[in-house]
Amino acid sequence: MDNSIKGLLNDNNIKIPKHIAIICDGNGRWAKEKGLPRYLGHKAGTDPIKTITKACSELGVEVLTFYVFSTENWNRSKQEVNFLMNLFIEFFIKLQNEVGKNVKVKHIGNMDSLSSKLINEIKKTEKLTENNSGMVLNVALNYGSRSEMTNAVKSIISDMNNENLRNDKIDETLINSYMYTSGLPDVDLIIRTSGERRISNFLLWQSAKAKLWITKYFWPDFKIGHLNEAIKFYNEIDD
Ligand code: IPE
Ligand code: IPE
Ligand code: MG
Repeated sequence: MDNSIKGLLNDNNIKIPKHIAIICDGNGRWAKEKGLPRYLGHKAGTDPIKTITKACSELGVEVLTFYVFSTENWNRSKQEVNFLMNLFIEFFIKLQNEVGKNVKVKHIGNMDSLSSKLINEIKKTEKLTENNSGMVLNVALNYGSRSEMTNAVKSIISDMNNENLRNDKIDETLINSYMYTSGLPDVDLIIRTSGERRISNFLLWQSAKAKLWITKYFWPDFKIGHLNEAIKFYNEIDD
């Protein structure tokens, strides 16, 4: 497997997706296969985030979204949820040291049930990177499409009640502007690891025209070579 992006960079006929969205699945199974506790799978899952972010940024991807925690994931054990939340705090602190890389970090999802410590680190990271002009890195954490759409409907109704919005103005562009991804291009390519063929409440509105590439590899084993394969697949199947 070619684990460099040189092939893609040197191929003038390759179209790079504007927005790649990744469902980072299989951390638990990765750990189980190695006889390790689940939390070590989550820890190992932060490595590909770094390498894939760098690769996508170099390839000229405009938006990269990682799905790291869904609104349904609160149903996991308290111990696992706590571990993940602490891992996310560390993750955002690490991102703050990568500001020089010109990536603009954004959280997408519902902040309400997150701890104030995590919210602070998210906000700090967003603020530190807000003027970066390179790739947008969306971290979908406590994200769920249905929740996003429900909030959008509530905000639209509230703006109508306040007479800030007239109902003849409601069209797809307007609805789009009420999503967390307002101003960003639609998803072109969804990647899901660990072989699951589910969308799991991820970017349902934004992925209306997306192509879906599934690999059997677990997320902690995801390499640049897999990203290459996914982008080639994106180029090979018809629009
Ligand atoms: C994905 O890995 C990470 C999160 C959802 C937080 P999983 O934890 O879902 O791993 P599997 O699917 O159990 O292997
Ligand atoms: C989807 O993975 C959500 C994330 C990767 C964050 P899950 O493992 O939670 O999803 P299901 O339960 O297989 O759909
Ligand atoms: Mg899973």
